Amino acid sequence: MEEAKKTMLSGIKPSGDLTLGSYLGAIKNWAARAEEYDCYYFMADLHAITVRQNPADLRRRTLEQLAQYIACGLDPEKNTLFIQSHVHQHAELGWVLNCYAMFGELSRMTQFKDKSAKNADNINGGLFTYPCLMAADILLYQPDYVPVGDDQRQHVELCHAIARRFNGVYGDVFKLPEPYIPKVGARIMSLSDPTSKMSKSEEENGGTVLLMDPPETIARLFKRAVTDSETFVHYDPAQKPGVSNLMTIYSAVTGKSYDEIEAEFAGQGYGVFKPAVGEAVIETLRPIREEASRLMKDKAYLEGVYRAGAEKAGHIAEKTLRKVYKKVGFVAR
Ligand code: TRP
Repeated sequence: MEEAKKTMLSGIKPSGDLTLGSYLGAIKNWAARAEEYDCYYFMADLHAITVRQNPADLRRRTLEQLAQYIACGLDPEKNTLFIQSHVHQHAELGWVLNCYAMFGELSRMTQFKDKSAKNADNINGGLFTYPCLMAADILLYQPDYVPVGDDQRQHVELCHAIARRFNGVYGDVFKLPEPYIPKVGARIMSLSDPTSKMSKSEEENGGTVLLMDPPETIARLFKRAVTDSETFVHYDPAQKPGVSNLMTIYSAVTGKSYDEIEAEFAGQGYGVFKPAVGEAVIETLRPIREEASRLMKDKAYLEGVYRAGAEKAGHIAEKTLRKVYKKVGFVAR
């Protein structure tokens, strides 16, 4: 029954290109979620500007990310996909929640400390109150679950603290969501340094495959992938992190087990193994890249998707915002 579905909501900052790591680790599993949950995903452009962005790039990446998520299987008919700045209630509730978050607790956020260190010339107020906006994103929709990476757990906890404080004063206004750290999903490491995560920052070292990379680039990155001085394919993350990471990738894209992979490449060196992993990745990403490129050319379609998404989201968000405005004592319009 449609009404019985639980709600899930997550935001994605359009501040970089999607990687093979985020695809295999997370996005790949999102399509199936829509059967079980009522899912909301938004491009967090309001959050993105807490770090200086080139306007043209931000605009392009926001649309590209939407196109890529759809190409990865997020069906706009089954998921609500929207752009954060299109639903003005986020900024409005964000302001209110600023007044219920304490300087001390905001100061303790790990992400704030990290980002302040990295952007010493731009430690702006938005960076500091980032978690209040994120709390607004979440609380507007009363979701049951908020799927986030481990690095965002602290923000979800602060969202709880803010919601509890608010509820403590005004009664049960907000429902407290659970963070949802997905069980499925592989942890993919950099191809050039298998001890660090495959991420945007590993890109310049040749460690990161982007979802939109052309086949030649992918083939080259896998041929150059760091392995070890032995010559056999065996899964042992501690002793053979490079080879094990390649096995994880190969397993994720082919569905083969580690035993099957070891058998497949028995007696063959890395010179056969590495290009084979590259080929498998190329074939997995090909339809995604082609579909995303096609969607990027179809601006009218993308517009239809994000408009419909914002309309649906705005309707729900407005209900919560009205309630909050009334509780805190604003005069009804
Ligand atoms: N802060 C999240 C990140 O950097 C993105 C985000 C913004 C988010 N608002 C959210 C995630 C609400 C979950 C729910 O990844």
